[in-house]
Amino acid sequence: MLEFDGLHKSFGTVRVLDGVGFAVAPGSMFGFCGSNGAGKTTTMRIAMGLVRADAGEVRWQGRELDQDVRRRIGYMPEERGLYPKMKVGEQVAYFAKLHGLAPAAAAKAADEWIGRLGLADRRGDAVEKLSLGNQQRVQLAAALVSRPDVLILDEPFSGLDPIGVDSLAEALLGQAREGVPVVFSSHQLDLVERLCDSVGILARGRMVATGPVEELRRREAGRLLRVVVPDADPHWADALPGVRVVSEQAGDTLLELAPGSDDQDVLAAALRTGRVSHFAWRQPTLVELFREAVSATPEEVAA
Ligand SMILES: Nc1ncnc2c1ncn2[C@@H]1O[C@H](COP(=O)(O)OP(=O)(O)OP(=O)(O)O)[C@@H](O)[C@H]1O
Ligand SMILES: [Mg+2]
Repeated sequence: MLEFDGLHKSFGTVRVLDGVGFAVAPGSMFGFCGSNGAGKTTTMRIAMGLVRADAGEVRWQGRELDQDVRRRIGYMPEERGLYPKMKVGEQVAYFAKLHGLAPAAAAKAADEWIGRLGLADRRGDAVEKLSLGNQQRVQLAAALVSRPDVLILDEPFSGLDPIGVDSLAEALLGQAREGVPVVFSSHQLDLVERLCDSVGILARGRMVATGPVEELRRREAGRLLRVVVPDADPHWADALPGVRVVSEQAGDTLLELAPGSDDQDVLAAALRTGRVSHFAWRQPTLVELFREAVSATPEEVAA
């Protein structure tokens, strides 16, 4: 297991992490989500020893991360760290050697990853001549080239075109299949939903939701009701007790029901307004779960 345990961190008087904890099993992919400034990068930097936590620790296989363990981690920092003048092939091989590969093995592994990430024809070009997305691919090759035991990637998908997204997704799934725990941060929730076994949403310094996407969605089941009444008065549901209108468009209404409110009362009200052509619970999308999780209630803010 890769375990983040009870991480606290303040910068001056600003408390960023307030007991962050989650675990990633070998072979599973964890999507680390949260608003801008939530503390994802800070959490990953703590794991890599670039920021010191005020309390808490990060462990791999029960052992607190030290520089030895970190050498076995493939890390992609948020601030990209490439040498602009170095050629792509040399650059990736350089990172492989830095992580302990012998020169010949490093060159071979570099070639392989450059190919897999679609950069074969740019091997001899200086990094600074590449577009942003292609530099991103080089950065990824650098994180993957040393066959790391663990992958910690800070927004690896940002800036990639759809082909780049696919080749990276394929590469990460391949690493996970080989037993590597993969943690990556992302704002692309559709990707997180598609790729990850588990997600964690960081807000207000804590993990406010963690678990398999399906489980998080099920937990929220019985809350969102979609009702289609093509000829209804658009305001038919506005005054129903315990019901909030999430959206309404041309008779297609999404309602959020408070705990304890009766869906049959909603159905009766819908029937009074016209012919009901659709009436069903709807599982929330990850985007809806995210919005819900990051919007604090007044009590939470006060706490
Ligand atoms: N070295 C630092 N000194 C002071 N404040 C910092 C420092 N590093 C981070 N912070 C603050 O900590 C908070 C969390 O930042 P962090 O970069 O971890 O967020 P993030 O979740 O990665 O956001 P994003 O999605 O925008 O990348 C922010 O308020 C940021 O301003
Ligand atoms: Mg960040």
